[in-house]
Amino acid sequence: MEAASLELVDLTGSDRERAIPVLKDSFTGIYRWHAKRTLGRIETVRAAIAGGQVVGFALLERLVPEVGYVYYIAVGRTARRQGVGARLLDDALARFRAAGAQVVYAAAEEDNVASIRLFTSRGFRRVERQERGYRDGGLGAWGLRSRMMLVSGEQLLGLRLAPPAPPEPAPDPTTR
Ligand SMILES: CC(C)(COP(=O)(O)OP(=O)(O)OC[C@H]1O[C@@H](n2cnc3c(N)ncnc32)[C@H](O)[C@@H]1OP(=O)(O)O)[C@@H](O)C(=O)NCCC(=O)NCCS
Repeated sequence: MEAASLELVDLTGSDRERAIPVLKDSFTGIYRWHAKRTLGRIETVRAAIAGGQVVGFALLERLVPEVGYVYYIAVGRTARRQGVGARLLDDALARFRAAGAQVVYAAAEEDNVASIRLFTSRGFRRVERQERGYRDGGLGAWGLRSRMMLVSGEQLLGLRLAPPAPPEPAPDPTTR
């Protein structure tokens, strides 16, 4: 399979079930359950198609207009290390950027080397708990962590796409 010959498409409705074999290949236990539930509900499912089959997918959502989140990214076992995950992530970043997102987050288990390397290869870095918020130039995810469904043993990774919006100017008292 040539990564260059992949087709990237949105999966909607019952077509999302085409991603289940890759999901089963990639997650076990509670993650599989959660990924399956998210697959059915999430805003965007991007799938990488080769030879008519889904070989990888990314589950994407904007948490607020300026924040994108990669809930899951997965590639079927036989298609790994051929650039599919990188294609899906580059596509996700391009879409978030085009939609006006300033930052993108993803979560990875601390021992998931493949996933952490994939994200860091695209400029993501670990987000510290006490960091300044993303609206103030840091990558702190204040107010959004509960929507990210982070579980113990996972680390939050973040990437800034654009500088924070300038603060609203103070109201001009002379125009009251
Ligand atoms: C993580 C995952 C999506 C990577 O997909 P992939 O198609 O194999 O990744 P790519 O071939 O595009 O690799 C891109 C880069 O990621 C890194 N990488 C990917 N797999 C790696 C591995 N097993 N070990 C070390 N680095 C790895 C490398 O930096 C790689 O670049 P390189 O090949 O030029 O060295 C895939 O391993 C997977 O589906 N894992 C199970 C599901 C999962 O854990 N998802 C992440 C949590 S949401």
